[in-house]
Amino acid sequence: MKRFTLAAAAIALLLAPGAWAQDRLEPAGKWTAHQVGNAATPPMGWNSWNAFRTEVDEAKVMGAAQKLVDTGLAKLGYRYVNIDDGWWLKRRKSDGRMVIRTQIFPSAQPKNKKADTTFRPFTDKLHSMGLKAGIYSDAGYNACSQAYDLHSPNLPEGDTAERSVGLYGHVDQDIALYFKEWGFDYIKVDACGLNVYGPDREIVAKYQYQPFSPLIDSLSIGRTKVDEVKAIYADIGAAIARHNPDGDYVFSICNWGTSDVRSWGNDVGNLWRTSGDITPTWSRMLHTFDSAATRALYARPGAWNDPDMLFVGHGDFDANHLTEAKSHFSLWAMINAPLLIGYDLRDAPQSLIDIWGNAGLVRVNQDSGGNQAVLVHDTDDVQIFVKTLSDSNTKAVAVFNRGIADADIVVTAEHLKLAGGQEIKLTNLWTGEMTTFRDESSFKVKARETLVFEAAGPRALANGLYLSEIPGRLHVAEDGIVTPKPDPTVHQMISPWGASTRGGGERVSYAGWGGAQADGTPFGQMLQVAGQKFGSGIGVLSNSRMEVKAGKAFTRFEAWVGVDDSGRTDGQRVTFIVYGDGRKLGETGELVYGTAAVPLSFDITGVEVVELVAKSATEEQVVTWGDARLTK
Ligand code: GLA
Repeated sequence: MKRFTLAAAAIALLLAPGAWAQDRLEPAGKWTAHQVGNAATPPMGWNSWNAFRTEVDEAKVMGAAQKLVDTGLAKLGYRYVNIDDGWWLKRRKSDGRMVIRTQIFPSAQPKNKKADTTFRPFTDKLHSMGLKAGIYSDAGYNACSQAYDLHSPNLPEGDTAERSVGLYGHVDQDIALYFKEWGFDYIKVDACGLNVYGPDREIVAKYQYQPFSPLIDSLSIGRTKVDEVKAIYADIGAAIARHNPDGDYVFSICNWGTSDVRSWGNDVGNLWRTSGDITPTWSRMLHTFDSAATRALYARPGAWNDPDMLFVGHGDFDANHLTEAKSHFSLWAMINAPLLIGYDLRDAPQSLIDIWGNAGLVRVNQDSGGNQAVLVHDTDDVQIFVKTLSDSNTKAVAVFNRGIADADIVVTAEHLKLAGGQEIKLTNLWTGEMTTFRDESSFKVKARETLVFEAAGPRALANGLYLSEIPGRLHVAEDGIVTPKPDPTVHQMISPWGASTRGGGERVSYAGWGGAQADGTPFGQMLQVAGQKFGSGIGVLSNSRMEVKAGKAFTRFEAWVGVDDSGRTDGQRVTFIVYGDGRKLGETGELVYGTAAVPLSFDITGVEVVELVAKSATEEQVVTWGDARLTK
């Protein structure tokens, strides 16, 4: 009888709505964010793709490497020299070992023609220059060039098995080869092999590729096998960790914002692409930027949103469009994007070198706090982003004119979370000009221009930090999203892939709508509970758990919590619980829509990790941790 009751209770628990989530809402009692590899700050360097596509060769790569050293860019932090698609010849039949196309990488051919090709001389050379080396592969059987660069002279050769150059079925072998034997420090793993080589594809029949039933449907998150894609990348990540016992590696996930990677990339890799490929056009730059710009809470030291590599130097960002080029670079620096140059550096004009070499912006990007800039003012035309530097009295602020008309843009002390009525010192990071202001200052910003300042002054919250100032110390362990939905806030451009304006246009497809946000609700609205506005705070769905690294440096956690005014009005009840190192510090009663915000204040002396849990009995609700802060 007793056994029956227990089993029945267990089944009831399993069947209860949200039961799966309840488990994940239990306090971890520690910081559980995935923390591996060597990416404490966003990776910087050079990659061959945007400059050469598959027509990469050793002279071009070494030319770039030498230029990084000669111009001082390497000293500034640009140290990864990464080859992209195009390096391979084939997978050897006898033992599956990858063979390098030595015609374009001559140093990979040992003097003894019978010996295995090896990138060791190549990586040794880069290492001797004080640089690091990166390589490229795909998670499936085949890479992207084998579908999209069919005129390339550098496509893999041979029969079906020989041309299956991706990692699938060879993860351990390839990763050991690339890292242990060849000495690479960085790998970018693409996903065309999981996406475009379905058995019914014309290209598969025509080129006799190994068919792979797609796990990714770029247009439909519902049809994408999220868990399987994640498992494949996690398996690759585990192999990389295994073959790099010193932890000196970077794992770049390149599945273009599909498969809900914007939510789980930080559990698996060091950076993850948040969108499809960038092209050298203003509109596409906005698209890839937007895909990362509202994801501040999903990045932190060791784990970065990747809106794709820099296209500074090309098209709308060439030496004749320095306003646009500087905007592109400023925005990437602010949101802690990897700074990977994609230009033939051998003949780069000084005006471009000066952009990549802007020491102030590089310092902002590489700040050890790892706080991605937060969107504090949002319109389609103008955005203001603020990034709190590790010296918390200093902010970087980007004033971004997305539009086609010049604009007067007012920045306030409030935007910066600096004290009103006090002097704020501004340094323009493009001109070096220094000014001061109190309360607010107005700037003339040209069409497509981005002004970036370092702003220093007394903090609005003198005795602590708002959580929305420190996304780098927050880990969204569970964001409450049950069914991933496409994020509609990403700028939609005319298809850059040849479809032009036929059909209905490229619609948004990156999942992550409803994710946790700093200074906004999960759906991008301003935070407000029963009419009380909060200029600062965290917006998230209920059935969420967030970890905050307090690091024993604070004595109190404080917040005003409640159901956000943008939430559902159907009486959904939410309880807020706060833990310190796994111990419950306190909880609210059940709050519903319209209940006034409840003040919380708990002693966190000596606490390493504060956990914030919002639970609803059944379905999700929009909740606000208003003015949430750590104080002393
Ligand atoms: C995909 C990636 C690009 C590049 C190419 C190589 O499109 O997103 O960054 O690596 O493949 O073929």
